[in-house]
Amino acid sequence: MPEKTNCRLVMGLFWGDEGKAKAVDVLGENADIVARYGGGANAGHTVCFEGEKFVFHQVPTGLLREGVIGALGAGMVLDLPELVREIKELGTRGLETTSRILISPRAQLVTSLHKRIEKIREKTQGIGTTLRGIGPTYTDKYSRYGLRLGQLLKKEGLSDCVKRLIESHRAFFEAAGEPTPTEDDILGPLMETKPMLANLVGDVSTFLTEAIRSGKNVIIEGAQGSMLDVDWGTYPYVTSSSTAFSGVSSGLGIDPRLVGEVVGMVKAFTTRVGGGPLPTEVFGEEAEKLRGTGENEWDEFGSTTGRPRRCGWLDGFALAVNCRRWGINRLFMTKLDVLDGIKEIRLCSAYKIDGKVRRDYPSIVEELARVEPVYEELAGWDDGVFCAESFDKLPENARYYIKRIEQVAGCPVGWVSTGPDRVNTIVR
Ligand code: GDP
Ligand code: IMO
Ligand code: MG
Repeated sequence: MPEKTNCRLVMGLFWGDEGKAKAVDVLGENADIVARYGGGANAGHTVCFEGEKFVFHQVPTGLLREGVIGALGAGMVLDLPELVREIKELGTRGLETTSRILISPRAQLVTSLHKRIEKIREKTQGIGTTLRGIGPTYTDKYSRYGLRLGQLLKKEGLSDCVKRLIESHRAFFEAAGEPTPTEDDILGPLMETKPMLANLVGDVSTFLTEAIRSGKNVIIEGAQGSMLDVDWGTYPYVTSSSTAFSGVSSGLGIDPRLVGEVVGMVKAFTTRVGGGPLPTEVFGEEAEKLRGTGENEWDEFGSTTGRPRRCGWLDGFALAVNCRRWGINRLFMTKLDVLDGIKEIRLCSAYKIDGKVRRDYPSIVEELARVEPVYEELAGWDDGVFCAESFDKLPENARYYIKRIEQVAGCPVGWVSTGPDRVNTIVR
């Protein structure tokens, strides 16, 4: 094995939407492969360049660059009709991807049954999910009723598998007073995707292992963020997968030591979509300034669901905990430009609960509801970050903000993004 591989993980350190796609696009300039290890169509990854905007959901962002191969790992839950739609849409925009995608036969399939279950459950559970069938599909994976891509391609056993899946949920649909889906309801739309997708299925684990060992440039594209991780996030207000470094090895079938660098994504302020704790949340005018009106393409409205994102000051305590936990080597910071014009910036450097400073991150939401963020007040700046091209050209107070974040996080900031386009990036 090479001493230091050319394989980088880009993972979100908050509740998603930290700008992972932008980072994957920038860091992927010389990439051979970009791989996704978890999640599915709940992800919304936006890349802007030369005035064009692309939003990726299941297709790895790196495919925007010519010649890059995109791998979809076993840890993903795939909505095949949506994947076909996404591939076709990219095709109509001149981006041919079908010859450059490799999908693991072990990936679980989101079916119409799963999306219907989620719709019913959300009425009472109220997580504020993306309604892409993610939770029910992962649930069935672990209860061993799931349908995998490899099984869909084999006639033998397929009908039995789908029947078992249906029977495991019959009582649920009956109790909800809704018709139970039939085998045709489930398989019909999936079968239609076979002509396009069957040839793209292959052994992602071996492919990636050999590529990384032979020195290929590989980017692993995280989805969601570590605060949405099913074990380490703000449970139960999380997604249903291992979104952080821990999901990489199982999701792709690779030795975790093949990952040469872990890049942590941090936005200059904090956001989340859906329900659940957000200790540094702000409201009213303060929130509107961070969120924007929706006029700019980067304003804080979900790229998958269009919902307004909740906004708050940068949660440096969550950042520090996540940098330690996931062994972050360098931070990639986005959206510093959004703070242009804010007179006073607040940075949360610690949590207090019942007057006591926390060392560990609270594990239950009832405790999180009692968090008092400890804020540092920093002087803002008028303008000058948007599209800035070098660290020296940033306003002095912006440079100080970055330095203070590094101290609080205990991790260096390697990149500062000053606008949505790939060229708006300062490499330090
Ligand atoms: P992801 O899910 O982590 O890939 O992030 P999203 O794509 O959902 O959301 C990030 C949004 O911010 C997108 O609209 C990006 O184009 C935009 N963006 C990324 N970096 C910057 C930046 O530095 N400045 C500005 N203004 N927008 C950015
Ligand atoms: P990217 O990759 C932001 C949130 C949902 C909800 C919770 C559970 O673009 O950063 P799910 O549909 O996964 O069961 O929803 O997780 N969520 C995201 N929030 N960005 C994402 O992805 C998200 N994926 C899921 O809003 O609160
Ligand atoms: Mg997103």
